[in-house]
Amino acid sequence: MSKESLTVIDNRTGKSYEIPITQGTIRAMDLRQIKVSEDDFGLMSYDPALENTASCKSRITFIDGEKGILRYRGYPIEQLAEKSNYLEVAYLLLHGELPTKSEYESWVYDITHHTFIHENIKKFMDGFRHDAHPMGMLLGTVGALSTFYPEAKNIFDENTRRKQIHRLIAKMPTIAAFAYRHSRGLPYVYPDNDLSYTGNFLNMIFKMTELKYQPNPVIERALDILFILHADHEQNCSANAVRAVGSSLVDPYSAVAAGIAALYGPLHGGANEAALRMLMEIGSKDKVPAFIKRVKAGEVRLMGFGHRIYKAYDPRAKIIKQTAYKVFEVTGLNPLLEIALEVERIALDDEYFIKRRLYPNVDFYTGLIYQSLGFPVEMFPVLFAIPRTSGWLAQWEEMLLDKDTKIVRPRQVYIGYDKRDYVPIEQRG
Ligand code: SDX
Repeated sequence: MSKESLTVIDNRTGKSYEIPITQGTIRAMDLRQIKVSEDDFGLMSYDPALENTASCKSRITFIDGEKGILRYRGYPIEQLAEKSNYLEVAYLLLHGELPTKSEYESWVYDITHHTFIHENIKKFMDGFRHDAHPMGMLLGTVGALSTFYPEAKNIFDENTRRKQIHRLIAKMPTIAAFAYRHSRGLPYVYPDNDLSYTGNFLNMIFKMTELKYQPNPVIERALDILFILHADHEQNCSANAVRAVGSSLVDPYSAVAAGIAALYGPLHGGANEAALRMLMEIGSKDKVPAFIKRVKAGEVRLMGFGHRIYKAYDPRAKIIKQTAYKVFEVTGLNPLLEIALEVERIALDDEYFIKRRLYPNVDFYTGLIYQSLGFPVEMFPVLFAIPRTSGWLAQWEEMLLDKDTKIVRPRQVYIGYDKRDYVPIEQRG
């Protein structure tokens, strides 16, 4: 009968140790017993990007990178994208179950009735330069929201926590839209509670002189599908940031602001912006081979390609590609599409990418849709942050309620100077 354990021999001492295996892992703290002497600190694991380290146990999202599987609370992303809507998916991520009709209706009511932001927020948003990146504006504004709701610090009070969750999910589109309108020198458009979550967002972005904005139903649904696909993705860089910052027991606005900061990076949520700029830089289909050559020479990265977990086609990218064609029927074909398709065609057939198992990820085709919808490129990561807020909050709450949770404080391998004495400035040379 095989035992669920590792037996390791420390060749420095000849001692052997039995380390239990649970759920495919060993506890890193079990390595500390492996010492060369009584005063030895004991072994640690070294995993700088946490590539092979489970930082938590979670029931929220399941990914199988080899098979290209993504499920929220057990439901396949393909079914949710086809049959659900973003607010229902946000409920699922946060509550663990699909809502009943009455649960869904009260959830939608709660979110819809928290879409307004304090009028003072307009004043400091006006303080940003006209060309301020909207992700920087979102990051700063969401962090500042914690000052408007000091009661949010009562994170272990469920009702208080619930209300902040409603506020954050509801106010993200409003703040994002205000940032966009600020960058265009346009007046802010207030929420319209008659519209859906994505319909209201489009209203706050695009409404001009019409008395009541009417979203195009194809665009409204396409954005809703994109929001579903971006809602959560287990322990990605920004979710890890939210969990780590949240482990200090700070309020959820500050923890989500940390997630926005992580998502802003071009290797993460900023990749949709970087991927579109890359396609614009390539410029035409016939220039794709030369660009691919630069990628293979290590000069540039193929933005929107590759993934830490997916070593197959990102299942979200497949759905986004299908959605793009539906959007283009309304908006007209995005001329960059043929460049994107050529990049994909060449890359999927090239040994460099095959060997490294690099496929289009969620960010490769998204930008084509956003650009066709009329969003400026710098708004693309903001369009990632809006839906990811529900995933971040689900991860944050699960962390908070997990009995294993302690403040995150990793160790290090010190490779600096040994003890040395201070040298007066006149003796430094
Ligand atoms: C998201 O984690 C998540 O779940 C994130 C996300 C989510 O929903 O939260 O899915 C959203 O962030 C998607 C990823 C968006 N980022 C990009 O599209 C940026 C471009 N892609 C990469 O930089 C890269 O693929 C990462 C960052 C996504 C993953 O990098 P890894 O896992 O650290 O892989 P690596 O950098 O170690 O690369 C392995 C090899 C290297 O080659 P060698 O040094 O072995 O020769 O693959 C190469 C890399 O150079 N490589 C690429 C490449 N990605 C990896 N080469 C060219 N172009 C790329 N895009």
